[in-house]
Amino acid sequence: MPVQHLQLQYEHFAEDAGLPADALMLLQKAREATGIAYAPYSNFRVGAAILLENGQVITGANQENASFPAGLCAERVALSAVTSQFPDAIIQAIAISYQPAGGNSDHPISPCGICRQTLLEYEIRQQQPIRIILGGMMGEIIIIPAARLLLPFSFTPQDLKGFPQADHRKHQNG
Ligand code: THU
Repeated sequence: MPVQHLQLQYEHFAEDAGLPADALMLLQKAREATGIAYAPYSNFRVGAAILLENGQVITGANQENASFPAGLCAERVALSAVTSQFPDAIIQAIAISYQPAGGNSDHPISPCGICRQTLLEYEIRQQQPIRIILGGMMGEIIIIPAARLLLPFSFTPQDLKGFPQADHRKHQNG
């Protein structure tokens, strides 16, 4: 049978109530971090909060630029802050929230492709999964148990070395 199937398991919550306490705390920090965004061009403010194994929380927000491609997403701002301040820290989870200029923030948004690739490399380096908590300022919340689940058939350091990945599905399952 040439057709293969990938499975993605994630948690879904209708609202804040019912979220595990650590996830709710981190999501609140991500919501607060939307306030430190510099987004005069898109007016789309994104906040990210990262929970380290030692309990510390590091936040970041998108930083735009008049030269648009120079802008950085909230996720990569927060990840870079972690790795420059705590190079050996293990990342347990990242929460991401947002505030659009107009309109509602009542459903989750997912990290962009570049941020998925970046998150995956952090996960590979630390050899421990990074939980991804996604939610707006209100409404439903999604928790994805590992970054690799968001990027099946990914390009990884193994590929650079010319090693075949034993099973591409490992980036989706487990
Ligand atoms: N943005 C993020 O910060 N994170 C994402 O995952 C998606 C997009 C930012 C980039 C840009 O400053 C604005 O949102 C609009 O794309």
